[in-house]
Amino acid sequence: MTNKTNTQKKLYIKTWGCQMNVYDSSRMADILRPLGYAQVDEPEDADMMILNTCHIREKATDKVFSEIGRLKIHKDNKEAKGGKMLMAVAGCVAQAEGDFILKRAPVIDMVFGPQTYHELPEMVLKANGNERVVNTEFPSVTKFDSLPLEQQQGPAAFLSIQEGCDKFCTFCVVPYTRGAEFSRPVDKIVEEARMLVDNGAKEITLLGQNVNAYHGTNIDGKTWGLGRLIESVAEIEGLQQIRYTTSHPRDVDEDLIRAHGDVDKLAPFLHLPVQSGSDKILKAMNRKHTADRYREIIADMRKVRPDIVFSSDFIVGFPGETDQDHEDTMQLIRDVVFASAYSFKYSARPGTPAANMAGLVRPDVASKRLTELQTLISDQYLEFNQSCIGTTTQVLFERTGKNKGQLQGRTPFFQAVNATANERLLGEFVNVKITEASAHALVGEVEVV
Ligand code: 5AD
Ligand code: SF4
Repeated sequence: MTNKTNTQKKLYIKTWGCQMNVYDSSRMADILRPLGYAQVDEPEDADMMILNTCHIREKATDKVFSEIGRLKIHKDNKEAKGGKMLMAVAGCVAQAEGDFILKRAPVIDMVFGPQTYHELPEMVLKANGNERVVNTEFPSVTKFDSLPLEQQQGPAAFLSIQEGCDKFCTFCVVPYTRGAEFSRPVDKIVEEARMLVDNGAKEITLLGQNVNAYHGTNIDGKTWGLGRLIESVAEIEGLQQIRYTTSHPRDVDEDLIRAHGDVDKLAPFLHLPVQSGSDKILKAMNRKHTADRYREIIADMRKVRPDIVFSSDFIVGFPGETDQDHEDTMQLIRDVVFASAYSFKYSARPGTPAANMAGLVRPDVASKRLTELQTLISDQYLEFNQSCIGTTTQVLFERTGKNKGQLQGRTPFFQAVNATANERLLGEFVNVKITEASAHALVGEVEVV
């Protein structure tokens, strides 16, 4: 990523939050490349600095301001040498706070939301003319229509197929910061997938805030769901593995389940956030499904793809959560058995319906529940990882590992693996025999054929 040529301008991007943000950051770099910006790994001496922010949990705005305070020194240093550095806040905090950021942080030149980064060239022009820019619109010309197709991605590439969310879970800011649900047309996605594969991608992760709410239009005018889209993307020769994230239980339909059975390239791993195992809490969260419906989806998926493993998101301490509600969540975890999970203490987000709900859970109670839940789940993934010792699995080596001579990749089940391997295997699917396992990673040996 680091580019040291002097003629190029240096672009430093710091990214917080979800996979969508990571993807957005790489697309911002794509857009700025023709303007002469090359991405660098360190903020010193950058010509542009973008803080791509996340608003999903507490104190997001405070954290951004303290980060601005910390990074400001680089802008000051650059200016002391007679140079110029543009400093921008992007992403969901930018969307939520807009003008307020410019007011509170005079050092910031640009503030722009997630739906506007295709307008970056125009914004940069203005900012270079010393105009301070705020852009938090939801433009009618979507960024997908005006983004360059060419992308620099590795063997495991991401492809955004859907954005936004209309679900309005009562705890969540995403529908407000990312806007309404929008699906890209089928042909555009398939074309982009082909191009990624031509450029060396072996695996593609289809991305969306609500990816299985996908309902894109095909050239024949018909609407396709995610299952049908996956089947079509799987036909691309040279593409070996497909993943998708993040999905919602409400949008799991028969086509999607069938795809898990029929499409060999679809990885046997599904991140399907459930948040809680209590029907009362699920209702208060506006998730619009029950805990049993979730169990049913898991069972249906396992029927068509017996080796599939699951991951989830959980929130503990949602307003009104009792010991019994928490126990219901623990029981769901025992019933399903997860291979990984993300879990959070509920944090009230101003402006969301849950922020005004009664029945606040004491922080120490929420902490205790979180620890309990995390202990149970990490036991589950340790057990799963250990059950893999002695098996041989296909690993896509994506990067060099922590130790010299090692490469790092993921199994089809999304476990991280480190193995001693020649660098020429970088970007390849390789058979790896698993030799060691901890809760969070595996160690393996490349099988010599
Ligand atoms: N408090 C705690 N966790 C939250 N998440 C989203 N909003 C909140 C909130 N207000 C979690 C959910 C979601 C994940 C991305 O972040 O579990 O699935
Ligand atoms: Fe947020 Fe719910 Fe939409 Fe997920 S489905 S982004 S949790 S509102």
